[in-house]
Amino acid sequence: MNQTLAPVTSGANMPDYHDACSHFAWADVEKAFSWHETGKVNMAYEAIDRHTETWRRNKVALYYSDQERDEAYTFQDMTFLSNRFGNVLRNIGTEKGDRVFLFMPRSPELYISMMGIFKIGAIAGPLFEAFMEQAVRDRLENSEASVLITTPSLLDRVPYNELPHLENIILVGEGKAPEDGDVRFYRFEEEMGKASRDLTIEWMDREDGMILHYTSGSTGKPKGVLHVHNAMIQQYQTAKWVLDLKEDDIYWCTADPGWVTGTSYGIFGPWLNGISNLVRGGRFSAEDWYGTIEKYRVSVWLSAPTAFRRLMAAGDDVVKQFDLSSLRHALSVGEPLNAEVVHWGMNIYNLRIHDHWWMTETGGIVIANYPTMPMKPGSMGRPFPGVQAAILDEEGNELPPGQMGRLCIKAGWPSMLRSVWNNDERFQKYFPVEGWFESGDLATMDEDGYFWFEGRDDDVIQTSGERVGPFEVESKLVEHPSVAEAAVIGKPDPVRGQIIKAFVALKTGYEKSNELEEELRQFVKQKLAAHAAPREVEIRDFLPKTRSGKIMRRVLKSWELDLPTGDLSTMEK
Ligand code: WTA
Repeated sequence: MNQTLAPVTSGANMPDYHDACSHFAWADVEKAFSWHETGKVNMAYEAIDRHTETWRRNKVALYYSDQERDEAYTFQDMTFLSNRFGNVLRNIGTEKGDRVFLFMPRSPELYISMMGIFKIGAIAGPLFEAFMEQAVRDRLENSEASVLITTPSLLDRVPYNELPHLENIILVGEGKAPEDGDVRFYRFEEEMGKASRDLTIEWMDREDGMILHYTSGSTGKPKGVLHVHNAMIQQYQTAKWVLDLKEDDIYWCTADPGWVTGTSYGIFGPWLNGISNLVRGGRFSAEDWYGTIEKYRVSVWLSAPTAFRRLMAAGDDVVKQFDLSSLRHALSVGEPLNAEVVHWGMNIYNLRIHDHWWMTETGGIVIANYPTMPMKPGSMGRPFPGVQAAILDEEGNELPPGQMGRLCIKAGWPSMLRSVWNNDERFQKYFPVEGWFESGDLATMDEDGYFWFEGRDDDVIQTSGERVGPFEVESKLVEHPSVAEAAVIGKPDPVRGQIIKAFVALKTGYEKSNELEEELRQFVKQKLAAHAAPREVEIRDFLPKTRSGKIMRRVLKSWELDLPTGDLSTMEK
């Protein structure tokens, strides 16, 4: 099982890994962009308009399909449409630096809107469509967003009359707009029809804000991680070398833009390289996914371990019903990719599935397996050229190969987060050791410089490739009238990576029952988000606590998994 998989020997974009590292400078990558000379930058220009100025104008930028739609948009189409949308925003008074949030399922309108937001210099805030009212409220409140783009069917999860900063809502698609309250409603289709297709782009400073991704930590509400236009340097180069994108590729990233993978590599990486990008809406099924690869002749495919494990579980017979011969390169991110899945991928697709590591805060890939590098199944790969990664101990000393410690990245890579919205204290916590960003992951590095994921250093849960903070789920559970206290942990699961398990202590007067456990599950599902709902709820007489009253998630976890509980000296008896 431990054999190394041989590299691709010809045709990859990245030269030999060592050569790439020894000749690499981020300053050279900047030369790929026109702003290298002008100093004026805009992501939407580099991702879309620039290609419209070349022969690529008639090349397909976006293939979109779901159960109802099947459409293709060229770079030229995207230029005009995003210009129109930029004008729609300007017409309603949106300005540079304003936060414009997107809360809708994948659709061409989502991608058009995001480019339009960038064109006028506003900051985009994508929200996953599964979010329920509390999650939507927290994010709109914290960012003080003034515009929201959503659909009529999602509107009942937006408490718009209680959000004083929210002035305008643009509704995409059919449905009724309410007439009450102070918020102004617009129809996407109607406003687009009235807006000009010509627009003067807002030229930005490379350090100006571009996108806010809310992400969960182990304590407190989700935090708004801010990325700036400068991030494109990293997204462009990693898409070239790690995704190995080439002119004729049909590229498919299965992630939703509500998560960082769905923007950095579901939008920016491919378009900065002028590549045709496929978006497939709707739900996962093995038949649908293989059918999508066959129909569009997908050549580069990026997904998550949980998806590969589900495809593996669907059985090899399904694979044989489809023609997957177009596939050249496959990638996985978001949680550990089991060596077993890599070996299965070799057998069934005849491809290496390239694991790579990064996170919302890093804005782009920082550790990866490259086509030109031998691959060790189970390892996340090696640092991207120009990136320095290390395993540090608690005092900030670099640990030698083989020792587990904190995975840290030397601060200063181009797509590093620039702030946590309205929370500088939280931002500073990412840099406990001078000059190093601390990821919150535990890892080891081996003698050959390959990094191996060991686990999280905090209580953050990674379930089906999505990051969930225990605190958000606990807070929601405690809102239920029966719940006195709640603690939430991640429990290993063969398909989902981890599942969410909640431990709950009831208020007096309430009795433990299966019905109540199910009701609590549904409560989180309906108020927060389906993916954040605990799969298991266990009602207990008491929860273990420190003497200062903090619930000890780690103790619950070791009880649950039958592991040693470690130091219990601070536990209240
Ligand atoms: C985890 C997703 C193991 C890790 C891009 C990290 C991984 C968190 C890997 C970030 C990998 C990401 N192997 N674990 N290859 N890639 N992770 O912010 O715990 O949604 O800290 O970004 O996912 O999740 P996020």
